[in-house]
Amino acid sequence: MTGSPVVLGIESSCDETGAGLVRDGVLLGQAVASSMDEHARYGGVVPEIAARAHVHAMAPVIREALDRAGLSLADVGAVAVTAGPGLSGALQVGVAAAKGYAFSLGVPLYGVHHLAGHVAAATLDGGPLPNPSVVLVVSGGHTSLLLVRDLARDPIVHLGDTLDDAAGECFDKVARILRLPYPGGPAIDRAARDGDPHAVRLPRPLTGPRDDPYAFSFSGLKTAAARWVEAHRTAGTEPHVPDAAASLQEAVADVLTRKAVRACTDHGIGTLVVVGGVAANSRVRALAEQRCAAAGITLRVPAPRLCTDNGAMVAAVGDLLVRAGAGPAPAELSTDPSAPLEYAALTPLTRARAVAA
Ligand code: KG4
Ligand code: ZN
Repeated sequence: MTGSPVVLGIESSCDETGAGLVRDGVLLGQAVASSMDEHARYGGVVPEIAARAHVHAMAPVIREALDRAGLSLADVGAVAVTAGPGLSGALQVGVAAAKGYAFSLGVPLYGVHHLAGHVAAATLDGGPLPNPSVVLVVSGGHTSLLLVRDLARDPIVHLGDTLDDAAGECFDKVARILRLPYPGGPAIDRAARDGDPHAVRLPRPLTGPRDDPYAFSFSGLKTAAARWVEAHRTAGTEPHVPDAAASLQEAVADVLTRKAVRACTDHGIGTLVVVGGVAANSRVRALAEQRCAAAGITLRVPAPRLCTDNGAMVAAVGDLLVRAGAGPAPAELSTDPSAPLEYAALTPLTRARAVAA
């Protein structure tokens, strides 16, 4: 095979085992297995169950991704894996598998930051991102507004982050209070279809004139929704779930898109990229589209299956790193469950050494 190598990407930071194959910015095939159903009765991800499920799913998922791409392991020229952030045991399964594949194939290994993976997912749907772009990353564990230049080479600038809960966490927690099934985000999205987004008055945190324009806060919104539900239950009436879901979704979508568009206009940047699990939300997508169109901003949101955790996004980062000539990770690459987002490549050991030197 000529040109750049096929990159195998492996994702296992939470409850999805993902494998994807990317070459030259093109997605060749991917597969995802989820242990979601095994966590549903606990109302949240149980780390040990997730790790064990990754052990069982890893090889079949990689095989399935290769089959879909019409490739075999011998075609793989590099391996990329999520080294952090995420659940420690879950990450270790992915990194161990990635090392096994890379060393047995004799190909380079790259450790990548999970959130950089979410950003890179947008390149698989519509091509390279303009430099610079404003990126809104909204997932179950993170909510950040970023200024991204060359993802493979430049440091990632944080314009703002959440001060407390992530947007996805807010959906998941309120869904639980509303007795909707786990995971909460998709359940809220479905329930909201039959609800009135203006039925419940919910706050728009940190949108006042003196507030940080790019910082987020979702714990007060969660509490306000919880109080509304409790007030109904104390009065002996069941809350109207579709109205609550639609109102919460509207508040989250309003705050996210308002701040993201503001970041673009303040910095004179013409492209907004919205990624991460919450970017699969129908109202977030629709409102982002509407507000970007009104402000003359180009919106890039990947297809929903590329928004939630997957291996293709990790392969996409690996592909960018390979083509940028980045050095591979050391053989001792380890996991970093709370890795801060600074660069797309994550080689915790090298970083620790650099700090020590
Ligand atoms: O990116 P992701 O798959 O995993 C993390 O890195 O956290 O994001 C998962 C989050 C969960 O909180 C889930 O409820 C939320 O994304 N989510 C959604 C939707 N699909 C997934 N939230 C709202 N609407 C959706 N359609
Ligand atoms: Zn994620």
